[in-house]
Amino acid sequence: MIPVKKLSNGVEMPVLGFGTWKLKDEKCTEMVKYALDIGYPAIDTAQVYLNEEAVGEGIRQSSRKREDVFFTSKIRNRFQGYDHTLQAVEATLTRTGLDYIDLFLIHWPGENMYVPTWKALVRMCEEGMIRSIGVSNFYPEHMETCAQETGVMPMVNQIEMHPYLMQYEVVDYCRQNGVFLVSWSPLSAGGQTRQDPKTSALGNTGKIPSGNVMEDPVICEIAKHHGKTPAQTVLRWHVQNGFGVVPKSSNPDRIRQNMELFDFELTLDEMDQIRELTKKQIRIGDDGRTYRFLLLDELIAAGKEPKRDRFGNYL
Ligand SMILES: NC(=O)c1ccc[n+]([C@@H]2O[C@H](COP(=O)([O-])OP(=O)(O)OC[C@H]3O[C@@H](n4cnc5c(N)ncnc54)[C@H](OP(=O)(O)O)[C@@H]3O)[C@@H](O)[C@H]2O)c1
Repeated sequence: MIPVKKLSNGVEMPVLGFGTWKLKDEKCTEMVKYALDIGYPAIDTAQVYLNEEAVGEGIRQSSRKREDVFFTSKIRNRFQGYDHTLQAVEATLTRTGLDYIDLFLIHWPGENMYVPTWKALVRMCEEGMIRSIGVSNFYPEHMETCAQETGVMPMVNQIEMHPYLMQYEVVDYCRQNGVFLVSWSPLSAGGQTRQDPKTSALGNTGKIPSGNVMEDPVICEIAKHHGKTPAQTVLRWHVQNGFGVVPKSSNPDRIRQNMELFDFELTLDEMDQIRELTKKQIRIGDDGRTYRFLLLDELIAAGKEPKRDRFGNYL
């Protein structure tokens, strides 16, 4: 059984989910079905991954009942704003074929539209379309503003975290305020850099050096000691820190491997050795304090009207 974390609204969220960034079409459906069939209880996607329809299909094809799958998606940045958010949530329901969402996140804070976006999510959560709501890549000041404006603190914050990047400021705030932290790129994305050249023009950071935590000598040594792989050791470190994880793999053996985290325990000394590595502070994605993007109306005004999905929703 995969452990669950009780969120501040009482909903139970599995601490392990299957990440789907970069998985598309039939491959995505196949891997989602596989992950659910072997015991993953949760799936993590986002509107910007352009795979919600394939994920929905994978859930349907799996042996799991809908109520035994915890489904998370995130609003695409361009749809921020009260009315666009209401429509965007409907679009996720249409594309996936699901009749409710377990967790819906604001993907990035951006500059000044996350408050109306949050207000729309609070409303949809109250109306039952979404069971829990949260944020991603938010700093304390963003979460504080959400809570002040609506009286509702995000239930989850999903941020980049791995042994080369521990976001202590965010971790402390979330622990003090009952916000469940989920680590994205928990395996440091295998050391890949991730930078969208189109967004650099908006003031985002340039190409960032990366590192693969699964090749780190400290982690490899600890892994050897437990008869586990470096990936399992890293994922176990997250879980023992009290974080959720959403590792992604396109390979069935690795998908299975990434689930086998609950039959061993790292010692305090091993946890400390891995924590030492976080001094490197290698960020492989963007930073929520500086990342900026254009909104739907701005895109349309600039003559860059987005494409639509086959249901007529903007992508
Ligand atoms: N909220 C956000 O802003 C945000 C941003 C990024 C990601 N995410 C979410 O977080 C999920 C995970 O992050 P991620 O996909 O960037 O990276 P990740 O899960 O840290 O790492 C995935 C990479 O590691 C490899 N890998 C996976 N398991 C392995 C194993 N056991 N041994 C060796 N290599 C292994 C994968 O290769 P193979 O596929 O070849 O196995 C892939 O290249 C995403 O899929 C997405 O759902 C959220």
